[in-house]
Amino acid sequence: MQKFTLNKAVFPVAGLGTRFLPATKAQPKEMLPVVDKPLIQYAVEEAYSAGIRHMIFVTGRNKRAIEDHFDTAYELENELEMAQKEDLLALVRSVQPDDMNFTYVRQPRSLGLGHAVLCAEHLVRHEPFAVLLADDLMVGPAGGLSVLAQMVAQFDQLRQSILAVQEVPLEQTRRYGIVAADPAQAANPRLMKVQKIVEKPAPEMAPSRMGVAGRYILTPAIFKHIRSQRLGAGGELQLTDGISSLLVEESVYAFQYQGKRYDCGSKEGFLEATVELALQHPGVGEHFRKYLRGLTLD
Ligand code: UTP
Repeated sequence: MQKFTLNKAVFPVAGLGTRFLPATKAQPKEMLPVVDKPLIQYAVEEAYSAGIRHMIFVTGRNKRAIEDHFDTAYELENELEMAQKEDLLALVRSVQPDDMNFTYVRQPRSLGLGHAVLCAEHLVRHEPFAVLLADDLMVGPAGGLSVLAQMVAQFDQLRQSILAVQEVPLEQTRRYGIVAADPAQAANPRLMKVQKIVEKPAPEMAPSRMGVAGRYILTPAIFKHIRSQRLGAGGELQLTDGISSLLVEESVYAFQYQGKRYDCGSKEGFLEATVELALQHPGVGEHFRKYLRGLTLD
């Protein structure tokens, strides 16, 4: 079988980010920086590392900063060039490699993640594609593949939809899509075949503790399955319901990735990411470690 190239990634960034108000009143949640990079840049870099070159953003009102971030900053670049600040110039330009393409489409109202994905249908068309939720910041294992690159390697073998999953505490099942899945291949214990998927179940109703993290590779059949759904919880069109319907037609796999997920849609997760990534940062890590050691906690 010829090696598969996944070309397109969809970034739904049209949510309201209410958990971060007032910070998100006039700026997108996805532009909040963890140390020195906005959340959306971590996700775009992850997609790029997985070989994807066409980035599709599903945006909404107040999201202009995302478009500007991935555009040429002409005045800034000019100033840096004149001041011969070559390092900073290279840093600014590295956000937008020459071989990366961006397309933006609007979701007119926050009608849910399923609806947001549907807004990208005319751009994705008939190819498998990745979906990355930038508020889940994923860090691959040290020196290893990024989480999406691990999933692309699985997709190359399976050619079926794959959901990133992790074990979550039982009392937190209400925050996730939860899957019931069986082992798929004896040689690959991280891969499971999904039997059932439920959106945000109460702990006593959860079919397992396997929660879906914000990374998906989906076949284009998903679009008609999302479209066939009625509005679900909160008057939104849920991606989970679309995947549940897709299961009737195609196999869907759950992949227990290697690495760590920070739920940066919540304040706690955002703070954890900030502390841990700051400790690893080559510029500030050493100073920050000393600072933390000097704090008196309790
Ligand atoms: P969330 O529900 O976590 O994000 O959606 P939110 O609505 O922005 O945040 P809170 O809960 O109000 O704080 C997960 C992802 O799906 C996108 C969000 O931008 C986020 O990346 N999303 C959600 C959309 O693009 N459109 C929607 O209608 C809903």
